[in-house]
Amino acid sequence: MAEARRIVVTGATGSIGQRLVPELQRRGFRVRALVRSVERAARVLPPQVELFAWEPGREELPPAEAFAQVWGVCNLAGAPISRRWTPAVKAQIVASRVELTRRLVRALQQWGQTVQVLVSTSAVGYYGDCGEELCREERPPGKDFLAKVCQEWEAAAQEAAPRVRVVCLRLGVVLDPRAGALAQLLPVMRSFLGGTLGSGQQWFPWVHWADVVAAFAWALETPTASGAYNVAAPGIVRFREFCRELARLLGRPCWLRVPVWALRLRYGELADALVASQRAEPFRLRAEGFQFAYARLEEALGELLGTKFVRASSQSAG
Ligand SMILES: NC(=O)c1ccc[n+]([C@@H]2O[C@H](COP(=O)([O-])OP(=O)(O)OC[C@H]3O[C@@H](n4cnc5c(N)ncnc54)[C@H](OP(=O)(O)O)[C@@H]3O)[C@@H](O)[C@H]2O)c1
Repeated sequence: MAEARRIVVTGATGSIGQRLVPELQRRGFRVRALVRSVERAARVLPPQVELFAWEPGREELPPAEAFAQVWGVCNLAGAPISRRWTPAVKAQIVASRVELTRRLVRALQQWGQTVQVLVSTSAVGYYGDCGEELCREERPPGKDFLAKVCQEWEAAAQEAAPRVRVVCLRLGVVLDPRAGALAQLLPVMRSFLGGTLGSGQQWFPWVHWADVVAAFAWALETPTASGAYNVAAPGIVRFREFCRELARLLGRPCWLRVPVWALRLRYGELADALVASQRAEPFRLRAEGFQFAYARLEEALGELLGTKFVRASSQSAG
């Protein structure tokens, strides 16, 4: 029997990583994780995962042994974005993505002769604030801070090509009740304080975590997959509709409106990213045969909240 293919994962202990690793194992891959703290990783990852310590802030390159007989790499590391962007936080956001990816790719070039594919994370923030305009993959990048980070992050991953097949997944807002945007919104909604950020008119490129994990697996296992892909559900809605649907399923009101000036007071420059409109369409994924398990918001939220799916409207999944 052929030996299982090995995958190196960065950011394995994060919210997406903790969902992805068991799925990779279920698909028969052997997983190695590059982590800043082996002790913490041992607590949150399945016992079969091989752990290698790498502190990218201090050590130039990850350990060579981690790349022995490795077939693929999934790059998910990145410092949290949802906090006030002081100069130090901005520097950390950049370094933990762009510089870390450059070093990972240098390690691949030195020690990863068996590596065939690199699936690296990016975000739909790549496009900046696009208002009503559609964001397909060929659209040029925006000009704001996050757009520049995503552009440099992808460019750093692309340095591994052409010897390695490189896929950059531009993730939308990943919905998971355990972490991220949904985990933060749920207690607010449950406390009868639900409402929209800004006008609520902005497009909100949500995606169920299970589809994100499936997109990583698809990118690894599809030999023709290459370049950038939007990973946002086909049934995109405006933020106002997202909040209304969430409120409906929770049996709570959605009545407040947090103005942008108040967000700016609280979050500084991050406020503009929170209300940016990205009408991201998963054009390439769908054209190349990927099927979303949760294309429509009602189904996704119904599953995530454990509520029975009740059709509220005849809105099309797009
Ligand atoms: N969740 C979303 O909605 C979303 C949307 C678009 C893009 N993304 C991107 O997808 C990736 C994974 O997202 P996630 O939600 O799973 O993130 P997460 O839960 O914040 O985890 C990211 C992981 O990155 C590592 N990390 C954190 N700070 C770091 C630093 N300063 N230097 C180096 N590594 C650091 C950590 O791994 P160790 O402690 O084990 O090293 C952490 O577990 C991130 O790059 C994120 O920007 C996420």
